[in-house]
Amino acid sequence: MERIKIVKGDITKQKVDAIVNAANNSLLGGGGVDGAIHRAAGPELLEECKKLNGCATGEAKITRGYRLPAKYVIHTVGPIWRGGNNEEDEYLAMCYENCFRLAEKYNIKTIAFPAISTGAYGFPLERATKIAITQTKKFLENNTSIEKVIFVCFDERTYECYKKLLKM
Ligand code: APR
Repeated sequence: MERIKIVKGDITKQKVDAIVNAANNSLLGGGGVDGAIHRAAGPELLEECKKLNGCATGEAKITRGYRLPAKYVIHTVGPIWRGGNNEEDEYLAMCYENCFRLAEKYNIKTIAFPAISTGAYGFPLERATKIAITQTKKFLENNTSIEKVIFVCFDERTYECYKKLLKM
């Protein structure tokens, strides 16, 4: 529990080993946090992403962070909410699992996540937050290499939701 932190702010400013990007299947940038990360990282990020040939929903791919304070960006593609009967929960859980798997592989000690899929992809916030926290606790129970997981909430509502659910 002490290895999980919740902050309100801009993920592009986080001084961590890796920040996670809520990308789309093309990995060629977009709006929301994807757009913010590409703007802050600079054009080299897109150049590297172009070589990755996209990313399937639930999967994760890693690039350098370029002009970001973070050394790496782990790009993951969350599910688009379609009512809850299209394995959205399972795909969102996979996003966290696969980001942690890459973090372990690259010896990443500190990692920051946005609220994946809860913006343009319409995933209900509380339901997504439960999945984020559950998957993170599950991973940290079996992993000592990661020192800190930071959930970076861009707005008050998300911040309050994470704070409330982390206590439960
Ligand atoms: N730092 C942290 N969080 C941010 C930032 C930021 N700079 N900008 C936005 N967010 C938050 C949003 O407020 C939301 O809580 O990230 C969360 C995820 O929202 P989106 O960025 O819309 O991501 P998502 O819902 O996963 O939709 C992904 O949107 O931007 C496109 O290319 C992206 O097609 C993909 C889709």
